[in-house]
Amino acid sequence: MSALTASSLFTSSSLRASKTTTSTSKKNSSSSSSERKTNVVCRSQKQQKTSASRNSISLAPSSSKNECIQQIAAKTKESPPLPPTATGPTPTQIAAGVFAAAAIGVTARKAMKKKSKKIVIAGAPASGKGTQCELIVKKFGITHISAGDLLRAAVAQGTEDGLKAKEFMDRGDLVPDEVVVNMVKSRLNEPDCAGGWLLDGYPRSASQAEALSSYGIEPDLFLLLDVPDEELLERVVGRRLDPVTGQIYHLKFFPPPDETVAKRLTQRSDDTEEKAQNRLKVHHANVNAVLSKYKNIMKTIDGNRQKTTVFKEIEGLINSM
Ligand code: AP5
Repeated sequence: MSALTASSLFTSSSLRASKTTTSTSKKNSSSSSSERKTNVVCRSQKQQKTSASRNSISLAPSSSKNECIQQIAAKTKESPPLPPTATGPTPTQIAAGVFAAAAIGVTARKAMKKKSKKIVIAGAPASGKGTQCELIVKKFGITHISAGDLLRAAVAQGTEDGLKAKEFMDRGDLVPDEVVVNMVKSRLNEPDCAGGWLLDGYPRSASQAEALSSYGIEPDLFLLLDVPDEELLERVVGRRLDPVTGQIYHLKFFPPPDETVAKRLTQRSDDTEEKAQNRLKVHHANVNAVLSKYKNIMKTIDGNRQKTTVFKEIEGLINSM
């Protein structure tokens, strides 16, 4: 909640308080007549029944006056807080204001903390990096940078880098550093990364990790999604993308919600079994050099579970940063 929201909340409740003043004083006068009625009630059991029900306070049939007073006092304690008065906010409203202010403090501190998170997410092709990034962004609002998405955008735009990258991507090979390193570095220098980022699929080789360090860019957490190869192939060939929402689906594991979405889904050109085999080979050939560079901040996560279960573990790790 923003400071503006909280102050307007408080103002609107004060406004509501002044608007209700007239009805409040009416209520106050009716409640003192109710008290008089209650006193009378204690004199006769018959009257007691009628008046107590009018006051919504039921008294034991044989109560003495003192017992009546004690019972009324006890019941009154359980009553809801008094409505606002003409002189200003009630204690309840003040407490609400204090709570709101405290909530703003907590939210602001959380936002500041959130901005400083620098995370790399790694794993074999189709290990669930993109899927988990969707959930991380939704929960933590961290800027997501996918090396694969940057390269696909360059290919789609037909830039010089895109044209160079295309032939490597089509084979499932790593795009040369001269293309990818600068692309990622420039993206990391954009203003929305100033306070933190979630880097997906980069670095993928020792030379890329060294390049990051040479620019003074160091992650605080390195997440590695671990999934057996045989499971990965099934994930690759069944993957479909929604070009409208960017949502990642799987024909078997996360099917689209309806026919309309199903009809517009697309498949990546490198999501064939043959290309996926090569992407896996390339991954295994390079991954250990990257892992050894980040072993001190690395957390390996079993990615062969429900995506929500995987995310729960990641969420815990990010929260503890
Ligand atoms: P990139 O786009 O990064 O591809 P990748 O690394 O092969 O990873 P994917 O995007 O295929 O998979 P993912 O891990 O994101 O899985 P997802 O969540 O989609 O790179 C493409 C190419 O670009 C590379 O081959 C290379 O040529 C080039 N490139 C990229 N980075 C480079 C770099 N740094 N240097 C040089 N070249 C580079 O999930 C996959 C499927 O599984 C989906 O259908 C999903 O619904 C499903 N799924 C996800 N989680 C689960 C789960 N828990 N259970 C069951 N199914 C699941």
